[in-house]
Amino acid sequence: MKTLQGRRKAFALALVAATLTVPALEAQEDLFAFMPPGGRTLLGELIASGKSKYDDVTTERRSIAEWRAYVDGLGNAEFDGTTRETLADYLEKSMPAAEKGGKTVDTGGHLLPRDGRDLTLEYCQSCHIITVVVTQDRSREAWLGTMNKPSHVEIDTTTAEREAIADYLVLNGGISIEDIPEELRAGGATY
Ligand code: HEC
Repeated sequence: MKTLQGRRKAFALALVAATLTVPALEAQEDLFAFMPPGGRTLLGELIASGKSKYDDVTTERRSIAEWRAYVDGLGNAEFDGTTRETLADYLEKSMPAAEKGGKTVDTGGHLLPRDGRDLTLEYCQSCHIITVVVTQDRSREAWLGTMNKPSHVEIDTTTAEREAIADYLVLNGGISIEDIPEELRAGGATY
């Protein structure tokens, strides 16, 4: 006989299954909402609120110090230090967009280059659960070192993409297991 708890669990699993049948990206966004937004999403918010202009930002070339000053100058009080740094790092890596190339994602009607979070979701969960990655609190060198290990060199990323992943994770990794949805906590490693 099924216990109430058992039934609850079955219901929860059915919900998960239902979620996974909606368009892939949307479902991912729900399940992975615990991962802090990357620069693409943050820039998208600024464009949507009128604080940044798409044509200006995406054609600018600035140093990281200049982008930091730009981000600080927006007067966006809701962005904390880590969020500002994530955005400045993204802008420095991704702009001018036409010149840097790479795939883009429709973000509120604007095509913006992928950020470190997008790349982590795309490249870091086919062999093991994303939890293996995002719970680690590491230096940039350690992240790049992992991605250059024999177990990871076969992943089809460019140097720039690996750096974007590393820098996103330096700032936003080390997520507590408590903040990760149950279904992503255990049994995810297939290696
Ligand atoms: C091709 C399969 C594959 C993909 C894709 C993959 N990993 Fe791994 N990962 C492994 C294997 C195998 C291990 C365990 C063996 C090891 O540690 O090298 C592992 C372990 C890890 C670990 C824990 C052990 C360590 O080295 O610290 C981290 C962190 C990690 N991976 C990060 C990443 C990141 C970041 C990405 C995305 C860029 C990624 N992985 C994508 C195969 C993969």
